[in-house]
Amino acid sequence: MSAGGRIPLARPSIGEREGELVAEVLRSGTLSLGPMLERFESAFARRLGVDDAVAVSSGTAALHLAVRGQGWGPGDEVVTTPLSFIASSNCLLYEGARPRFCDVDPATLTIDPSAADAAAGGSAAGILAVHIFGWPAAMAEIERIAAADGVGVVEDAAQALGAVCADGGEVGARGNPAVFAFYANKQMTTGEGGMLVPPGPGAAAAARSERNQGRAPNMKLMDHDRLGYNYRLTDLQAAVGVGQLERLDELLRRRAEVAAAYSERLAAIGAAEPGAGDPADLVLPLADRGRERRSWFVYVVRLPAASDRDAVIAELDRRGIDARPYLPCIHLSDPYRELLGTREGQFPVAEEFSRRSLALPFHPTLPEESVERVVAELAAILGRGAARGPS
Ligand SMILES: Cc1ncc(COP(=O)(O)O)c(C=O)c1O
Repeated sequence: MSAGGRIPLARPSIGEREGELVAEVLRSGTLSLGPMLERFESAFARRLGVDDAVAVSSGTAALHLAVRGQGWGPGDEVVTTPLSFIASSNCLLYEGARPRFCDVDPATLTIDPSAADAAAGGSAAGILAVHIFGWPAAMAEIERIAAADGVGVVEDAAQALGAVCADGGEVGARGNPAVFAFYANKQMTTGEGGMLVPPGPGAAAAARSERNQGRAPNMKLMDHDRLGYNYRLTDLQAAVGVGQLERLDELLRRRAEVAAAYSERLAAIGAAEPGAGDPADLVLPLADRGRERRSWFVYVVRLPAASDRDAVIAELDRRGIDARPYLPCIHLSDPYRELLGTREGQFPVAEEFSRRSLALPFHPTLPEESVERVVAELAAILGRGAARGPS
């Protein structure tokens, strides 16, 4: 291993403030469904500029409640992307609905609106858009397709807190039910946790009941008026969330700086902007475009098509650097092959990206020297010579 120790793929940035807020909850004696949970929800809603937000135990739980809110169930097929973390489709299966996958745009890697339109074909129950790798999906087009078919849209913004769409609207604040996630590698964390932005007060009340075993609004009674779950976020987790929210601007800014450092160094070893389409290229992630703003969640490059990605990962590992294939296509995972009969070749853009993709170490406290070392080692492994520093 080279000097400088191992470079991990991700690492949360936790400040003293989070610890102080957790201690405040511990002293209060109210560890669940208490004032810190409400404080987290209202701070989050304020930050996003929405009326309300419902905190739950994970992004997956939030997605499940969003799907229930749409009433998607047996017999329903929902247009969505195969290039996502598997939870974004699993949440449909929980309710007996099914994903109807469509291919993605080669530059943005989010749903290609024309593919979504063709897949919807007037018979889908809705569209579940995913803002993958923090890039905002083409929401205006997706909303138009859904409106023409008279169906709803759910936004999976688990990876995209802070991203901005082409029309200037912030991801998750467009009036669609939207979901955020707070696992430790996300832009802000609560350890585990999620947030549902409900489309209105009725949906918010339903989600608050469903996260708490279906309890009726009067919590003094043990009255359960619907099917519910234990999807509660503790006040200890909410305290971490409040602290992280206070630092969110700084955390997002640091992520963007680390991404810029990567892009600059990778460009210096000949990495290309997405879109050129030469399979021999090492391809950078798409940079901000017009009003579209990525919220940097991961830093994922496309290796040259002829590279042996697993060998590159193994060699980086040997040199003390964590890297990962990211993401595998959902339709090629065993449960989906078995259930839907999906197979290779159905979504060529997503599949080709997925075969070539490599997530490099990325977090807000990643030092410049580590970025330099990762790029130098990658350059050496790919036979592209040492990385030059930025001019
Ligand atoms: C796109 C996407 N959707 C949903 C989730 C699920 O979130 P959680 O892990 O908090 O359940 C994730 C988590 O990484 C995700 O990346």
